[in-house]
Amino acid sequence: MASATSRLMKAVLYEAYGGGSAALKHVEVPIPGPKDDEVLLKVEAVSLNPFDWKIQKGVVRLFLPRNFPHIPCTDVAGEVLEVGARVKGLKAGDKVVTFLNHATGGGLAEYVVAKESSTVVRPPEVTAADGAALPVAALTAHQALTQAAGIKLDANGPQSNILITAASGGVGHYAVQLAKLGNTHVTATCGARNIEFVKSLGADEVIDYKTSEGAALKSPSGKKYDAVIHCATGIPWSVFEPNLSSTGKVVDITPANASTVMTFAIKKLTFSKKKLVPMWSMSFKNENLGYVVNLMKEGKVKSTIDSRYPLSKAEEAWAKSMDGHATGKIIVQP
Ligand SMILES: NC(=O)c1ccc[n+]([C@@H]2O[C@H](COP(=O)([O-])OP(=O)(O)OC[C@H]3O[C@@H](n4cnc5c(N)ncnc54)[C@H](OP(=O)(O)O)[C@@H]3O)[C@@H](O)[C@H]2O)c1
Repeated sequence: MASATSRLMKAVLYEAYGGGSAALKHVEVPIPGPKDDEVLLKVEAVSLNPFDWKIQKGVVRLFLPRNFPHIPCTDVAGEVLEVGARVKGLKAGDKVVTFLNHATGGGLAEYVVAKESSTVVRPPEVTAADGAALPVAALTAHQALTQAAGIKLDANGPQSNILITAASGGVGHYAVQLAKLGNTHVTATCGARNIEFVKSLGADEVIDYKTSEGAALKSPSGKKYDAVIHCATGIPWSVFEPNLSSTGKVVDITPANASTVMTFAIKKLTFSKKKLVPMWSMSFKNENLGYVVNLMKEGKVKSTIDSRYPLSKAEEAWAKSMDGHATGKIIVQP
């Protein structure tokens, strides 16, 4: 496809902060050309994450997006069409999964350029939608469990009791499956309609967050949690504290609020053994993307797709994500 850059592609973008799904515009723009360390992909599927619309809201407006107009979304599965001069490990025709830079985005389009260093080959066992669902959500779950909470994802680690909040969401549904690869007892919270779904992911006990027991985060079997992978929002430390083991940690993956920052500081200053660990962002590593893609190939992790939309209806996918009630991941397919 030597003349890709002279042709146009369909894309969805926004031109300023705010406006939600109504501010998304359907446009035609030139197909980008790969730099030396990049590949050009034909997009087969892209998944949405809450951070995509939070960037549009301006929550990190000092940093992101780098420029307007901005084509959002970072988690893509596609087919390699062209490779840059220095690309060694990928070739035209390869099916891949990639994570794009949040500053540049680019996912909501028919074609996208991706760094070779953020791209892994997608085996035939992993569909485009299942692969595109992985990067931010699965790698956040992986980082929260392995780095922030120190859980080993094999049966050789010490036994630990884990609580996963919002276990029906994008991050939570991977967190349950990954946690169960380790020597863990998993308690999970979700809404009543998703209790059987979250049990099917491997959770040992599941509580409805809208009941009084669920709101108190109490384990039905009386477990005290060694680690909480906190994927919901708005739960104060005072609710977690009585449910933690003596050295329990709460890993908060949405820590950008005054109460979390204050609790983190107080726990640190008082040398508390119970800790709050803010996880500000996922630090992407290609080896970790390869790891979760391989787990999916082996049938050890699956993606649950909440809903699929064509690119022509990307604004409906955007609104669905902003609504905050997805079960698993929301996918857009050109
Ligand atoms: N730090 C990072 O790097 C990072 C990375 C990824 C995501 N995040 C953040 O993590 C959060 C979760 O992301 P996500 O992609 O998993 O979101 P999501 O897929 O939109 O989560 C939606 C799910 O959360 C459930 N839920 C909402 N409030 C709940 C509560 N109080 N208790 C139990 N379940 C609840 C909903 O269930 P119902 O429909 O039944 O209400 C729904 O199934 C977001 O704030 C996101 O911005 C941070």
